Amino acid sequence: MIKKSIKSLLKSIAEIGKRSPKQSDELIAQIKQTTMEYTTLGRTGLRVSVMGLGGGGYSKIGQNTGKSRVESIALVRTALDFGINLFDTAEGYNTEEIIGKAIKEIKREDAVLSTKKKMLSQDRLITGKELVRGVEKSLRKLQTDYVDIYNLHGVTIDEYDYVLTELVPVLFKMRDAGKIRFIGITEAFTKEPNHKMLRRAVKDDCWDTIMVGFNILNQSARELVLPQATAKNIGVLSMFAVRRALSSEKNLRKAILKLQQMGAAELEILNAEKPLDFLFKEGGAKNITDAAYRFCRHQPGVDVVLFGTGNVEHLAANVASLLRPPLPDLDLLKLKELFANVDDFTGNEKL
Ligand SMILES: NC(=O)c1ccc[n+]([C@@H]2O[C@H](COP(=O)([O-])OP(=O)(O)OC[C@H]3O[C@@H](n4cnc5c(N)ncnc54)[C@H](OP(=O)(O)O)[C@@H]3O)[C@@H](O)[C@H]2O)c1
Repeated sequence: MIKKSIKSLLKSIAEIGKRSPKQSDELIAQIKQTTMEYTTLGRTGLRVSVMGLGGGGYSKIGQNTGKSRVESIALVRTALDFGINLFDTAEGYNTEEIIGKAIKEIKREDAVLSTKKKMLSQDRLITGKELVRGVEKSLRKLQTDYVDIYNLHGVTIDEYDYVLTELVPVLFKMRDAGKIRFIGITEAFTKEPNHKMLRRAVKDDCWDTIMVGFNILNQSARELVLPQATAKNIGVLSMFAVRRALSSEKNLRKAILKLQQMGAAELEILNAEKPLDFLFKEGGAKNITDAAYRFCRHQPGVDVVLFGTGNVEHLAANVASLLRPPLPDLDLLKLKELFANVDDFTGNEKL
């Protein structure tokens, strides 16, 4: 069901101002044909689209890739037109205002907003007072009275005890005051590709949601994090589905080479030129990003796949991928076997 009117979409496209009439027609047709899927985000009970638009990563909804603010706002509105209702941002991304502005045209309760605060300020851990100021600042930038999910951002295992004793009680108070509805924690995947912090966090009762790195190349969360999160009914948002390594076949080739050099023996059998070509066939994946997003989308235990883009064609392609069926069983089995031992690579590495 299209949640937003086509008029609003046309406005979005007009704002983008760079699309040919044919491209605009194609986008409108795709939105009309799209039936977004929704799920319940664990114990939060929130009804959310199975995919969420991320305001961070390399693109920052286009703010890092040369797009104007108007274009980024239009991209968020086009995501709304597709039926996406979950938007993730952070104090550090500089995209809170863009998302806040974009959702002004819908009822507040029709969007689920997630934002976050980093733990370090000038090389020391933030205080409870700074956390309170952070929440207030995010509310102002998002132009809202409450945040649906407030996350502690990129927490490492070394910071975790402090977070539990000093910051979680502050978040409880903010929740009691109605400023935040649910409390989340996100991992520093590039520092802890084997989920050191999250493996511990999923044992505690205070987290309503977690954000975990998971992709074809590093599937370690499947055993280390997801079953424990499911058992506690913690809502799970996955990140890093594509990142750098899975954003093109060229990057994939370089990433596989790097993994081979790191000693991943199972990967020696792969053809250097077309390492995962078994995925691309009739009934299989359309391309590497299609494979990457579908792989995460259908992983049991993952509720929402976050993706980042500043490019409206990528937005449309990703929505289509995330609504396609799972990859064929045999392909999934092969991917599982090939990358079974990788827990030291994230897809973010320089290639
Ligand atoms: N610790 C944390 O809390 C944390 C860390 C990382 C991410 N996150 C959250 O998770 C979100 C998603 O993470 P991510 O940024 O790593 O997302 P991702 O979807 O794995 O990767 C996004 C990258 O892939 C490109 N891309 C997207 N769709 C594409 C397509 N169809 N074809 C080719 N390239 C494509 C994007 O560039 P284009 O603009 O060119 O499309 C961007 O550079 C972030 O925005 C953020 O909200 C949280």
